[in-house]
Amino acid sequence: MIVTLDGPAGAGKSTIARTLADRLGFAFLDTGAMYRAVTLAAVRNQGPWDDPTGLAELAQGCQIEMDESVVRLNGEDVSKLIRTSEVTSNIHYLADNPAVRERLVELQRAFAAGKDIVSEGRDQGTVAFPHAECKIFLTASPEERAKRRVLELQARGEQISVEEVLEQQNERDHRDSSRDVGRLEPAFDAIDFCTDGMSPEEVVERLVAIVSERSLRANG
Ligand code: DC
Repeated sequence: MIVTLDGPAGAGKSTIARTLADRLGFAFLDTGAMYRAVTLAAVRNQGPWDDPTGLAELAQGCQIEMDESVVRLNGEDVSKLIRTSEVTSNIHYLADNPAVRERLVELQRAFAAGKDIVSEGRDQGTVAFPHAECKIFLTASPEERAKRRVLELQARGEQISVEEVLEQQNERDHRDSSRDVGRLEPAFDAIDFCTDGMSPEEVVERLVAIVSERSLRANG
């Protein structure tokens, strides 16, 4: 069974998708980490930022391995290195590139083949797995997402205002929702799930119930 979990940055997707996969005993795929890994390769290679074909070739040559908590780029564990702000601010060069997206979607399908999986991203229910048995589109209001992000950064010792986070977040939302291919949007058959005012535990409980109900329907 394939469960897709798409939605904007800061809706709590990653933690929720991972916990949901654990609870269901499913594999977990963080597709954002794949975009981050090819971006890290491009950062190290210093682009070529103004050459989409060159970037696609670079991505094509990257060997990316994913397991539950480790991301490997050409054999190197880059799980931490892909989370820097330099990587985050350059992701759009790769994520906006249709040839790069095509290659990563191929890898996502190969990873999911024959597995029960929770796959998390922006286009999992629309592009990567249009026939998934259960599609969730997870959202939260921009203010709530920004507040959660500020708390997360404070916990890491970084000081930033809600206004600043909100501005960066709006810019990212706009980019994610307006790219030509693989844009952030709910699949027509996705369940829209707003997490405002809910704890991550409550969200996971509700999602476990939704997936179980879908699974019964799919099998019976
Ligand atoms: O989920 P994340 O913040 O780690 O994702 C990083 C970036 O990758 C995000 O800005 C959008 C992009 N992305 C994408 O375009 N398609 C996906 N399936 C997953 C992520």
